[in-house]
Amino acid sequence: MRKWIVAGNWKMHNTIAESVALARTVKEGTAGLKSGEVVVAPPFTALTSVGEALKGSSVALAAQNMYCEDKGAYTGEVSPLMLKDVGCTYVIIGHSERRKYFIESDETVNLKAKKALATGLKPIVCVGETDGERNKGVTEAVVGRQVRGALADIDKLDNVVIAYEPVWAIGTGMVATPAQAEDVHDFIRRLLVEIYGCMAADVRILYGGSVTKDNIAELIAMEDIDGALVGGASLKADGFLGIISKMP
Ligand code: 13P
Repeated sequence: MRKWIVAGNWKMHNTIAESVALARTVKEGTAGLKSGEVVVAPPFTALTSVGEALKGSSVALAAQNMYCEDKGAYTGEVSPLMLKDVGCTYVIIGHSERRKYFIESDETVNLKAKKALATGLKPIVCVGETDGERNKGVTEAVVGRQVRGALADIDKLDNVVIAYEPVWAIGTGMVATPAQAEDVHDFIRRLLVEIYGCMAADVRILYGGSVTKDNIAELIAMEDIDGALVGGASLKADGFLGIISKMP
């Protein structure tokens, strides 16, 4: 039985004060949670304060990105050791916005995923096709390449989480239908089984892209959808807690 995850990716939103207030409400709202895992990914500037605010709760802290070296002359970058130092247990890797605006490739995603695992951070590896790629019928080719690329030379999946986020569904209100999402999740699962055998059965595959409290129930009902990576709806406590309240 895979334990569900609802992760909030706050992207480039929220001051420290706003982040702490949101984290406190999420902490209170999840106090009695019996199943699953809740994760929040504030901007780097708020990680320390949100980590403090979440102490004593089961809400896990994630970063939205990291560099693939422990330290050195890499101006502007943040190392996985620094993320561990502020209490992160997860790190989002290869989000489509990083691939698009910061030219991250399957190779850099792979370097980061390997480094995260070696440091004891759990990577949430993002994959997903654009609308143009879907229309051309190459969704599986693209997602397959991204998954294989991200996981190259990684031989254990214990701490790996995959997030399928179709680019056309991110921030557009155009959520994938449960069937569209499940088709790709099932494809990813079969690909992981092909590469890794039976350990692939335990890997959590999250869906992301315009998830709200009104559409999560039918998504999470799908066989291979193990949770959600939530952007916009995670910025308001009622929206985020509403999603969590629909989890099994
Ligand atoms: P939205 O939920 O705003 O569509 O964003 C999804 C996302 O990119 C999460 O990483």
